[in-house]
Amino acid sequence: MTEKTGPEVYLTIMRKVIAIDGPSGSGKSTICRLLAEKLGFQYLDTGALYRAVALHLRKNNVTDGNNDPEIKDALNGVSVSFRNGLVFLGDEDVSDAIRTTEAGHYASVFSARKAVRDFLMQTQRDSALQNDIVAEGRDMTTVVFPSAWRKFYLDASEESRARRRYLQLQEKGMAITMEEALKDVRERDLRDSQRDIAPLKRADDAIYIDTTLIGLDEVMATIISFL
Ligand code: DC
Repeated sequence: MTEKTGPEVYLTIMRKVIAIDGPSGSGKSTICRLLAEKLGFQYLDTGALYRAVALHLRKNNVTDGNNDPEIKDALNGVSVSFRNGLVFLGDEDVSDAIRTTEAGHYASVFSARKAVRDFLMQTQRDSALQNDIVAEGRDMTTVVFPSAWRKFYLDASEESRARRRYLQLQEKGMAITMEEALKDVRERDLRDSQRDIAPLKRADDAIYIDTTLIGLDEVMATIISFL
C-alpha cells in the first residue's frame, strides 16, 4: 500500500493550488472565498479545520497540558469535513460554533501541536486531488502545498487586522471591544509565528501583498494579475 503523505507524491497528482498565507485578520478569508468563486475553484479554509479540531479537543477536556499521544488518542476516529460550505465535526454542523474568539484561541493553541498538525495534513492535501483549490491558512505556501501553482502572503498592520476582527465579530453579534480584538490578534500572531512546527512565515517565493490601505477590489485585481 502506498502511503500518500509526502509532498513529493502529491506533486504528481495534485490539481492547481493557489496557496495563500497570512496572519489573523489580514483579509484572507474574504479574498480567498471570492477568488475561488470567480475562478470556479474550491475554497479550502484550513483555519476552520483547526478550529473544529480544537472544539472537539475542548469538548473532551483535552488541554495544552496533555501530551501528544493523548491528543492523538482523543482524535482517533474523528472526522472533520466540509459539506456544502458548512463545517462538520462528525455529523455535527459546527460552522457557527467554531467562529467564537474562544475557538480561535484554542485553534491557535492546539495548532502548535504535532499530533494536531499530523492529523489534518492528509485532509488538506486530499482536497487538491479532485479539484483546483484556493487554500488559505498559515502554512499553505511552506508546508502543506510547497509546490503550489501560485503563492501569496497577505499582510496588514496590527491595528487594521484587529479592526477587521472586531467588525467581523460584532457583525455576528458577539460582544468584543477593540482592545480585546487587538489583544487577541497580538497573542495569536505571536503564537502562530513563534511555534516550532510549521510557523506562520512568508515563503521566499510567495508574492507579498499589504492590504492595510487597499480595498478588496484592488487586492483581488493584484492577485489575478499574477495568475
Ligand atoms: O485562520 P483562522 O483564524 O481561522 O485560524 C485559527 C487558528 O488555526 C490560527 O490562529 C492558527 C491555526 N492555523 C494553523 O496553525 N495553520 C493553518 N493552516 C490554519 C490555521
